[in-house]
Parts: sequence; C-alpha cells; structure tokens
Amino acid sequence: MDDVETYSSRSKKRRSRFLKFGLAAVIFVVILAIILGVVLSTTARNPSGEKLKSTVITRCEKFVESTNISRDCQKLWNLFEQAYVGRDPCAVPPEAYNPLMAGMHPDPSCNRMLFWSKTKDLVHDFTEKRDCYQTLEDTLLGSVMDGLTWCGKEGTRETFTTDCPGWTDCDNNPVRLFWNRASAGFADAACGDVTAMLNGSIATPFSPASIFASIEVKQFNSTRMNGLNVVLVTNKNDITTCENPSLKVLQKELDPKLKYSCKEVTQSNIQECMLRPDPACGACW
Ligand SMILES: *[C@@H]1O[C@H](CO)[C@@H](O)[C@H](O)[C@H]1NC(C)=O
Ligand SMILES: *[C@@H]1O[C@H](CO)[C@@H](O)[C@H](O)[C@H]1NC(C)=O
Ligand SMILES: *[C@@H]1O[C@H](CO)[C@@H](O)[C@H](O)[C@H]1NC(C)=O
Repeated sequence: MDDVETYSSRSKKRRSRFLKFGLAAVIFVVILAIILGVVLSTTARNPSGEKLKSTVITRCEKFVESTNISRDCQKLWNLFEQAYVGRDPCAVPPEAYNPLMAGMHPDPSCNRMLFWSKTKDLVHDFTEKRDCYQTLEDTLLGSVMDGLTWCGKEGTRETFTTDCPGWTDCDNNPVRLFWNRASAGFADAACGDVTAMLNGSIATPFSPASIFASIEVKQFNSTRMNGLNVVLVTNKNDITTCENPSLKVLQKELDPKLKYSCKEVTQSNIQECMLRPDPACGACW
C-alpha cells in the first residue's frame, strides 16, 4: 500500500516537474527569440551605412598605403562611429570626436601647410598636381571624410547617409562638428611658415563666417609657427587687393609674434605653375 502510494505520488511529482521544465523551456525560447530579434534589428545595418563604412575603410587603407604611415583603419572606423551612433543628429556633443582626433591626428608637414577659404577647387587641384603642400583634405582624416555625409539616430546603432541635417540646419550635427574639430586640430598643429590661399574675386576674402576665420586662425600658435603668408588669388578686373579691410582684420587677429605677408597672385599663374613639375617644391608665388 505504502509502496503504491509512494509510487503514484512520485509519478505525480515527476509529471509536475516535467510540466515545470516544459514551461521553463518555452519561456526560455520565447525570451531568446525576443533578445535575438532585438540584437538582429539593431546590428543589421542599412545598406547606405554599410557603404559608408566600406568607403571610409577603403579610402583609409589607400591613404595608409600611399603615405606609408601606420594607422589601423578598422580602429579609425570604430573611433569615428562612436562619435555619432545612437545620438540625436542635432545634439552631438562637441567633444565627441576627441578620441578620433587623438588616435588619428595628422603628422604635420611644417612649412608646407596650406589653408584656404573660398578657393577649394583651385587649392585641391594645386596640391594634387604639385605634391608639395598639404591641406586638411590631404591628411588622413580629411581625405577619408571629404565629401561624405553621415549621421546616427537615437535608439539604433545604425549609420545613415540620407535625411541627415545639413550644414546649417543645426550647429551640433555630426558632419559640421567633425570638420570644425578636424580644422581646429590641423590649425593647432600648424608649424613653420604657413600659407593661406584666399579668394581675391570676392569683397571679403577673410570672411568672419568661414572656418578659416572662425576656427583655424584662432588656433595658430606662435610657439610652433613662424608666420602666415596669404596668397590672394586674383583674376583680371578684380578690385580686391592685399589692402582689403578684411585682411587688415586678419593681420590684427594674429599673434603679434607671427610674421604676416600677403601677395596677390593671378589664378592663371598658379594654374600654369602647378603643371610644371618641381621636385624641389619651389613656391608658385
Ligand atoms: C614604409 O615603412 C617601412 C617601415 O617604416 C619601411 O621599411 C619601408 O621601406 C617604407 N616603404 C616606403 C615605400 O617608403
Ligand atoms: C572665388 O570666388 C568666386 C565667387 O564665389 C568663384 O567664382 C571663384 O571660382 C573663386 N576663385 C577661386 C580661385 O576659387
Ligand atoms: C601654444 O602652445 C603651447 C605649447 O603647446 C601652449 O602652452 C600655449 O598655451 C599655446 N598658446 C595658445 C595661445 O594657444
């Protein structure tokens, strides 16, 4: 009797243990599915984000190869991405790119650093054809990010390349902050005699709204720099000269320890000069 009762109660216990186990297994599978779903939906990248990543890494690898510097391009991407992913694209903190800048800072080429404002196409044609001067866009970070658009979004790890805020839509957007920060870093590293190519075809070649005026000039440091040489690119019939009031403002803003010079050079002279190869890298002005 006792044995039978014991047996039947054991079997009941076993059945209820089996039921409990089954229930636990079902709950476990459901939870696993939910976690997996969340993980997959946040790690699955949209194609445009994947394309940006591959563009950044390919450009970085090409740069590293052609300049023979040692930089880890996967690390560059990771540092870059961490600045904006998961963030409201109008509320990126100004210091977000500091780790990227610290890890990937440019090697400055003293006496060969070229700043520009409103002369972008000519300047880049010039540094490409005559490999003597270095603009921000000729450094690793500048060349990798030139012309690209990107942003993140709250609540996702994805990178987007469309529907991102434009340059003037909000101050703290990822693209604008990147260029502000990269420009500041480049100017902070400026050393020796520094050149700035400004536009003599406009009324205000040193415009307060430009990155050159609002960020770069403020970073110039006389402990590293000797002076600033302005090359004012002119065309026939231009009335702007080195006597332009905005250039007087520029001169006043510089540390008095820095030498200042300004020279008017015609665009056609620069264009002819850049076609003549010169291994000694003599100036075109
Ligand atoms: C690149 O750098 C490595 C190590 O610094 C050196 O051995 C090699 O000769 C360099 N190559 C070129 C093309 O400069
Ligand atoms: C100077 O600015 C004018 C007007 O924006 C532009 O058309 C011209 O191409 C610029 N010059 C250079 C050398 O970039
Ligand atoms: C210039 O650089 C030196 C050395 O890095 C630093 O101590 C100094 O504060 C800088 N000056 C300005 C005006 O930023």
